Amino acid sequence: MDTSTPRKVEHQQTDRGYVPVYATGVVEQPWSSYSQTDHDVWNTLYARQRELLPGRACKEFLEGVERFGLGDGGIPKFADLNKVLAEATGWELVAVEGLLPDEVFFDHLANRRFPVSWWIRKPDQLDYLSEPDLFHDLFGHVPLLLNPVFADYMQAYGRGGMKAFAIGPEALMNLTRLYWYTVEFGLINTDEGMRIYGAGIVSSKGESIYCLDSAAPNRIGFKLERVMDTRYRIDTFQQTYFVIDSFEQLFEATHPDFTPIYARLKDSDAHAAADVLESDRVFTRGTREGFATDADT
Ligand code: PHE
Ligand code: FE
Repeated sequence: MDTSTPRKVEHQQTDRGYVPVYATGVVEQPWSSYSQTDHDVWNTLYARQRELLPGRACKEFLEGVERFGLGDGGIPKFADLNKVLAEATGWELVAVEGLLPDEVFFDHLANRRFPVSWWIRKPDQLDYLSEPDLFHDLFGHVPLLLNPVFADYMQAYGRGGMKAFAIGPEALMNLTRLYWYTVEFGLINTDEGMRIYGAGIVSSKGESIYCLDSAAPNRIGFKLERVMDTRYRIDTFQQTYFVIDSFEQLFEATHPDFTPIYARLKDSDAHAAADVLESDRVFTRGTREGFATDADT
């Protein structure tokens, strides 16, 4: 699929208004259509996380937030952020209506384009919503795209996604678990202590506290095949967090061809989200307090 130049194909009436749609699911960020309420939601969520995250999020993330000036007031314009990104790592944000088909999402990442939902949650959804919105996608994912190693990891993931997609649904599931436990819910062990880098955590007040402070979840050293073979929760805080030592470690560990790994995992029974194995490097063994035992993905 050649999508290197997003091409405008039509205008489309959506739930949230009339927007130009491109072949790759890309729309124009309808910046002037944001209401004062939308900007207030951004400002509130931003202020809350900005206050909470020093000492919790890793320094690369916090530096990214500052460098973009995400707290300059109101919802940022993607065009402004893109100037910073282009110079730093060559990534580009593209606005989208919502979740994309897997292969379209992978194609964007493989071309260093990060899709960001243009719309923001309502004031009664500050603490939880079930689909990614602007705050999650932008505040959660974009700051680390300024980090060269993480930026390369995301592109490699996109390329790997195209490959997994071609291999089949089981391979895709294994790869999705890797994304979940790193890009979305990853922790990193630094000299200053355990820190957050996962976008699903940094964009959530509750989980930003829980993932580091709660005794309930396991915190286990990152091992590629272990992670790719572990189910996860989409409806509750995580039961296990996997901890990397550095972004370099993550990039190196995921560099080899996954084809033999997919073949090995095809017939294996995936571990439950809460499992702790003999072979795990355990930072914290969770108490499992309050854990649901069914419905891992
Ligand atoms: N090395 C992986 C493969 O061969 C691709 C990949 C890289 C996947 C980085 C995820 C992250 O499929
Ligand atoms: Fe996300």
